[in-house]
Amino acid sequence: MSINGKGPLHLVHALEERKRKGLFRSLKYNYPKTDFSSNDYLGFSKKGLIEKKLQALQIKESGSTGSRLISGNSQLTEDLENSIAKFHSAEAALIFNSGYDANVGLVSSIPTKRDLVLYDELVHASIHDGVRLSFAKSYKIRHNDVDHLKRMIERNLPVVDTIYVVVESVYSMDGDCAPLKEIVKLCDNKTVFLIVDEAHAIGVFGKNGRGLCSELGLEENIFARIYTYGKAMGCHGAAVVGNETLRNYLINFARSFIYTTALPQHSLLSIEAAYELLLEGKLQEQLRENISYFNSLTKDFIPSTSAIHCKLFPGNHNVDIIEAQFEKKDMFVKGIKSPTVKEGAERIRVCLHAFNTKEEIKNLVNLINE
Ligand SMILES: Cc1ncc(COP(=O)(O)O)c(C=O)c1O
Repeated sequence: MSINGKGPLHLVHALEERKRKGLFRSLKYNYPKTDFSSNDYLGFSKKGLIEKKLQALQIKESGSTGSRLISGNSQLTEDLENSIAKFHSAEAALIFNSGYDANVGLVSSIPTKRDLVLYDELVHASIHDGVRLSFAKSYKIRHNDVDHLKRMIERNLPVVDTIYVVVESVYSMDGDCAPLKEIVKLCDNKTVFLIVDEAHAIGVFGKNGRGLCSELGLEENIFARIYTYGKAMGCHGAAVVGNETLRNYLINFARSFIYTTALPQHSLLSIEAAYELLLEGKLQEQLRENISYFNSLTKDFIPSTSAIHCKLFPGNHNVDIIEAQFEKKDMFVKGIKSPTVKEGAERIRVCLHAFNTKEEIKNLVNLINE
């Protein structure tokens, strides 16, 4: 008997409930032309910059044929990991298939049931999922609240073996940065270790886009950093960067690393090409200029020096209306609704890019002010 049009009823009910609340998600394409929404902050993906570099190389395989521990490893992968480690001033790096995989693998495998994970309330879903899969206890810390974090560390240290603090250097829904210098001071690297997700900082902060940890000179103090390649790097994949023991541990225990087919040559060479583009440095300068220009024109946005800028427009309905107004002008600006953000904190989110022109930015700000 065909399953078409049938299935467990709760699927239908859950979808109806979503529709009733105005939260039904559906896939779209044909995005408006002026991009203020993608994570392609430097335009590496759009302009075919990586593809141009790849054309010169002869790619001989379409798939990697297996997981890294079976048949999917290569000299290319290991050399790339060594150069990633060097670029980020670390002992070692390990490539994952995506940032999602990296966070889930890292956060689920490292803390044991005698440990505690303290994570910022605004961290990405992949970190939440890693915490859910781990056997450790966990608590949310109020966003960027260093005093709260300090109190939670002091209160729990006597009753757990190790505490892992997990934060992002740039938060994807607010665009603000973590107070990393203060957080680092609370992590002694003996019983309290820091994990920093740099997904939205690579390419944007630091010399040649090395990230915020590098800009602040903190690389050596951080147990693990996650760099993702689907945003400013314009390609795909991620790396966890830290010491050799961390790398070996993940190879042995991170299930999202072990039980999946490794990235193909094309993806690895794209990552390599993206790092080469970072070293050229020009586009990062253009992006920083656009961020300063945008900040000079606006005042009631959540303060941000990153590529992400948000303004609150409470109410999912309001956000829908504003998004549609942008679309009419062929501008791609996303509204962020609850429950992705807290009720009442619905917002529009502007992602700035190196390729946005001053005129586009000015038109955007004028429209927002209207
Ligand atoms: C902070 C953060 N970490 C991790 C990820 C996941 O990275 P990827 O898209 O490579 O799976 C994202 C993606 O949205 C993110 O914003």
